[in-house]
Amino acid sequence: MGLLNSVRGLKARAISKWKQRNWIPAWTSPEEQAYLVKYAERDYLGRGEIVDLGCLLGATTISLAKGLRHNSVVSAKTGRIHAYDLFRWEDSFSELPGGFSSHYRPGEDFLPDFQSRIVEFADLIKIYPGDLTKVGWCGDAIEFLLVDANKSWDLCEFIGKNFHPHLLTRRSFVFDQDFKHYYTPWVHILNFRIRAFLEAYDELAGTCSFVFKSTAALDPAMVPSAQEMRTISDDELDEVYRFSLSLIPNGSGWERANIMASKVMFYIHLDRAAEAQSAYEAALRAGFTVDSDLKKVARLLTRSETR
Ligand SMILES: C[S@@+](CC[C@H](N)C(=O)[O-])C[C@H]1O[C@@H](n2cnc3c(N)ncnc32)[C@H](O)[C@@H]1O
Repeated sequence: MGLLNSVRGLKARAISKWKQRNWIPAWTSPEEQAYLVKYAERDYLGRGEIVDLGCLLGATTISLAKGLRHNSVVSAKTGRIHAYDLFRWEDSFSELPGGFSSHYRPGEDFLPDFQSRIVEFADLIKIYPGDLTKVGWCGDAIEFLLVDANKSWDLCEFIGKNFHPHLLTRRSFVFDQDFKHYYTPWVHILNFRIRAFLEAYDELAGTCSFVFKSTAALDPAMVPSAQEMRTISDDELDEVYRFSLSLIPNGSGWERANIMASKVMFYIHLDRAAEAQSAYEAALRAGFTVDSDLKKVARLLTRSETR
């Protein structure tokens, strides 16, 4: 048993080193990128397309492309990865790992940089520059939907109504990159409302992401509008967050606390400061660690008090 454990330990350390070495500096972690490589190489069957919403400088796109290049089952690989982004530098990207912000001014077009980064895989990738709510989706089946551009109520409604309905029943996956991030409460509301169409597939422990598998064809009418999400009742919101937490019962302290931070953020987005404060205090009383995104929402709460 002792020998087996030390072999397992050595193997885990070797895998972790491999992930670190192959990491492309970005907001997605070595584990998330390794997951994408492995998925596209071993699990992707080519029955639908791979869609990468919010590809930024290409870390996720390249990870998917590396895997697809080595996929031995799919022969039609040309243009199977569909990469969406505004490709406009934002102030908020200043914290992006890799020191890229010294290269760009806010508003600057970084599409040429994206194109040069993916050049080795250009045959596999179609690029969709611009606001994805204007660009839309052609309607082909989607086998893998990576969502890392779900940054507002409206984007959430659009993605839910225009991308999720093209998932293939029992064949497709949604890689929800904002599942354990404080900023995006709409992600939880959407997933709760369409829970009959998706099942938990992979917790991606230690990362912000969560992977769902499609279980039935989604009627776009089931997707709540941005307004419906904003006006959800407090009781349903409690249910939404009980549901999300139930999906990561063994999640580490910060992962579960980040989900609760997004409940606080729901009220902050809506300028409901008193309710945000009580949701924050309730999270602390319930024992969620402040060593998490709860620290970030606490800072926002202080700011809203002094406004
Ligand atoms: C958190 S970043 C993505 C991080 C990236 N996936 C990584 O691995 O580092 C979110 C991305 O969504 C893009 N985005 C935000 N709103 C968008 C929209 N309306 N249409 C297209 N892309 C959008 C941003 O430009 C940004 O690159």
